[in-house]
Order: sequence, then structure tokens, then C-alpha cells
Amino acid sequence: MPYNEIIRKRKSVRKYDLAKLDATGFERVQEQIGKITPLYPDIRYCIEIADKTKWSVAGIKAPHYLLFSSEDKEGSDENIGFIGQQMDLFFSESGLGSCWLGMSKPAEGGRPGGEETCALPFVICMAFGKPAEPLHRDVSEFKRKSLSDISEGADERLEAARLAPSGVNAQGWYFIAGDGKIHCYRKKPGGLLGLIAGKLGSIDMGIALCHIAKESDNFRFAKEADVPVRKGYIYEGTVI
Ligand SMILES: Cc1cc2nc3c(=O)[nH]c(=O)nc-3n(C[C@H](O)[C@H](O)[C@H](O)COP(=O)(O)O)c2cc1C
Repeated sequence: MPYNEIIRKRKSVRKYDLAKLDATGFERVQEQIGKITPLYPDIRYCIEIADKTKWSVAGIKAPHYLLFSSEDKEGSDENIGFIGQQMDLFFSESGLGSCWLGMSKPAEGGRPGGEETCALPFVICMAFGKPAEPLHRDVSEFKRKSLSDISEGADERLEAARLAPSGVNAQGWYFIAGDGKIHCYRKKPGGLLGLIAGKLGSIDMGIALCHIAKESDNFRFAKEADVPVRKGYIYEGTVI
């Protein structure tokens, strides 16, 4: 099984050097965007690089942002989580900081090629740039639930899923592992914030799947028919 070091030291970066990346740095980011593997290849998406957004709750100011957009169909939020986390890991590996921003929106006039370049609905954005705070940390500094809180059964890749980032660190995933498979579930969203929580929970699932994929020899994800039911959770699919 491949072992991914970055998964064990990455963190969300919230303080940036506001200087723009130079042309080479910018090209590397664009090259990486071209190398992405989606979770669901049949869902259309696009990634734009912008230099401003609006509504950053935590007041995060970064020199650049990725804007993720996707056609709206079943699995599109999971797909964007899976795609975006490949960028997050790439940034961390390349000496750049990044942070998913669940509440920010593209700023008016903030889309690099004009409003029409990506005619798909906006999903979420991610700040990135040179970090003005430590980029990496020790694995002991991760604030995460224990494996027994989020999973049952054994699979080496569960640790990579456990360390995945999630919106407000909710960690609403559950994994049932055995015989080389991992059944994946996410917490049913409830309450007034159900819609937002549902969207973030689906993105979080895609992010955790990206970490599992990074540690898989042959990653495949599909819905299976006879899987265990977990009360209060939605079955998303099985890593095969
Ligand atoms: C979908 C998603 C949305 C997020 N939105 C925000 C946000 O709006 N503001 C923020 O400061 N952090 C945001 N985060 C970062 C999380 O708070 C962070 O990943 C989590 O607390 C775990 O910390 P870590 O990434 O340093 O491991 C978001 C993370 C995810 C996955």
C-alpha cells in the first residue's frame, strides 16, 4: 500500500504572504489542475484561479483562490471534495498553504476570464499562496476523533481517512472495513443548517476518499447492493 507523508503533516493555512506567485509557480498550479483524477469522470466540473472572493468568515486573506464549479447532479459535491483535496495535498507538498473556504463566494468581477468562462454552478473555494505561518505539523497535533469513533473493522487506509480535513472539523464520516473493502457513510444532516451541512458533509466524504485513494494500489469506488445499514448515516459507496 502506498504511504502518504503529506496526509500526516498537512494543515489548513489561514495566514498568507499576500505577494502573488511568480509565473513558474502559477504554471505549476495550472499543470496540477490538469493532472487531477475525478471520483466520477462523467460529472463536468471546472477550476478557476481567482485573486479575490467575498464572504470569508474567518477573515482569511490569500493572494489566490481556486473556485470549484460543477454541474449539479448526484455525487457532484463528493467529486469536488475528491478533486479539491488533490490540490490541497499538492499545495502542501509544494511549500504552499491552502484552506478550504465553505462560506466564501466568487466576488463580482472576480472571475479571471469573466462570468462566462465557467458556466457551471459554483460549489466551493480554496485559498492558497505562500504561507505566513508554519505549513506542516506533527501528526500528534491533529485534532481528530479516534479510529474507533469513526470506523469498525480493520484497514490500513482508515488512518488516512481519519486525518482528512472536514468543514468545521465535523468528521461526520463512518467507515466499515473488511475483506479489503471499505463501506463509506456520512452523518445525516439535521436541523436548520441541514442543507449547508449536507453539502459540506458530501464534500468532506470526497476529501476522505481522496486520502484513501492516495493510499490505495487500485482505487475503485462504487455503490454496492447488500451493505450494512448504519442508523443516522447515509451510505455513500464502497471502496473496492
Ligand atoms: C468543506 C470545508 C470547508 C471549510 N470551510 C472553512 C472556512 O470557511 N473557514 C475556515 O477557516 N476553515 C474552513 N475549513 C477548514 C476546516 O476548519 C479544517 O479543515 C478543520 O478544522 C481541520 O483542520 P486541518 O485542516 O488543519 O486539519 C473548511 C474545511 C472543509 C473541508
